Amino acid sequence: MAKSQTSYVCQTCGASSTKWSGRCDACGAWNSIVEEAPLSAGPGAKALGAARGRTVPLTDLATNEAPPPRAASGIAEFDRVLGGGLVPASAILVGGDPGIGKSTLLLQAAASFARNGLKTLYISGEEASAQVRMRAQRLGLADAPVSLGTETNLRDILTTLDAERPALAIIDSIQTMWADNVDSAPGSVSQVRAAAHELVSFAKKRGVAVILVGHVTKEGQIAGPRVVEHMVDTVLYFEGERGHQFRILRAVKNRFGPADEIGVFEMTGGGLAEVGNPSALFLSDREEPAPGAVVFAGIEGTRPVLVEFQCLVAPSPLSQPRRSVLGWDGGRLAMILAVLEARCGIPFAGLDVYLNVAGGIRVSEPAADLAVATALLSAREDISVPRDTVVFGEISLSGALRPVGQTENRLKEAQKLGFTTAITPSRSKAGDKPDLALKHYSDLAGFVGDIFGAG
Ligand code: TYD
Ligand code: MG
Repeated sequence: MAKSQTSYVCQTCGASSTKWSGRCDACGAWNSIVEEAPLSAGPGAKALGAARGRTVPLTDLATNEAPPPRAASGIAEFDRVLGGGLVPASAILVGGDPGIGKSTLLLQAAASFARNGLKTLYISGEEASAQVRMRAQRLGLADAPVSLGTETNLRDILTTLDAERPALAIIDSIQTMWADNVDSAPGSVSQVRAAAHELVSFAKKRGVAVILVGHVTKEGQIAGPRVVEHMVDTVLYFEGERGHQFRILRAVKNRFGPADEIGVFEMTGGGLAEVGNPSALFLSDREEPAPGAVVFAGIEGTRPVLVEFQCLVAPSPLSQPRRSVLGWDGGRLAMILAVLEARCGIPFAGLDVYLNVAGGIRVSEPAADLAVATALLSAREDISVPRDTVVFGEISLSGALRPVGQTENRLKEAQKLGFTTAITPSRSKAGDKPDLALKHYSDLAGFVGDIFGAG
């Protein structure tokens, strides 16, 4: 029988090779290759089917256990993103760019949970305790009953957690943690994976909720690519544009609540302040109507949010005109330009197109198609859209307008913010709104002809 060989497997992409190297040839990740023993190692190893294991106890799906009580921090934007508060013994990852405000957010959350009677431990591996205490003082949190530790040795941290048995432990950050049984530097894939694994299993075994802070690399991934995301129950990203005041906490995975939920915060001198009415924030100061500016009635998570698309169209000196998009999908923009040309006879060849979502929020709904098309036309024709108008609807490749979900919520939000006209696809279902005039169109060409007198 041929001797089975040890193989070296990349922990990022799963590629396998016969020798170790510092960098995976398949995916280019550094330090991600580990030795894996062959499956049938050891002389006594038997095929799984040959030796009998024990029978796993099975149950049915019905349960009369109540759902676990959630602990609210009192920071409404934070609790909502968690799906209605913190679930005991859950593991949560909060990722974001360095300097975006993760430590600030979690120190504020720690203080709120602690003030609500939850035993809370905050472990910082990045800052000295004096630094954290100074920050707490500046944020007016110095009196909150949070226990603060500064440590990076995972073994010591686990021992401390075991002795203290808090309800919540915050680890800032997972990249600074060091497991002494793993032979690589802190921050490496194997260390991050080992530390996250230990902390998550500890959370489940001992009933301690853990929040792990993770820095995001330039490519937008939490280092230890994706491995930590699989291990935890909830993944939150804290995002924001540099130079903008506000920050968005977004749930990208949540075993205990809706994904895609967002919480909106504003970074102030006194820490992060909640923004209860994000629509007002994302709409720029709209004194005069401007060509290219269109308000889209969107849905973020479970909440309607109005955002403004801004578009500029200018003759291009380049043989291949520019298509610059911020806050929306470039591929989707190309599709809308193609539909405008093919179905409405409006070409954008030889024109540079710049499209931004004001305020730095990202929109990913196809429901924004019609708002984008409107912004494009408004900029191209130099005709302003009245500033009391909101637009939404999906555009199909045939140029038909398709109704989108949550029409009623979108319209209500528009009405609440003082808009008086809504442009929507024909088959949208909506109740009567006395102060909101609804304009329905079934296809893009009809809409373009009516509003811009072209098409
Ligand atoms: P921090 O929470 O340290 O970021 P992270 O943990 O994600 O790396 O936030 C640092 C930034 O936040 C820093 O640039 C200063 C700013 N900040 C304020 O504007 N106001 C405040 O009250 C605090 C504490 C920080
Ligand atoms: Mg930090």
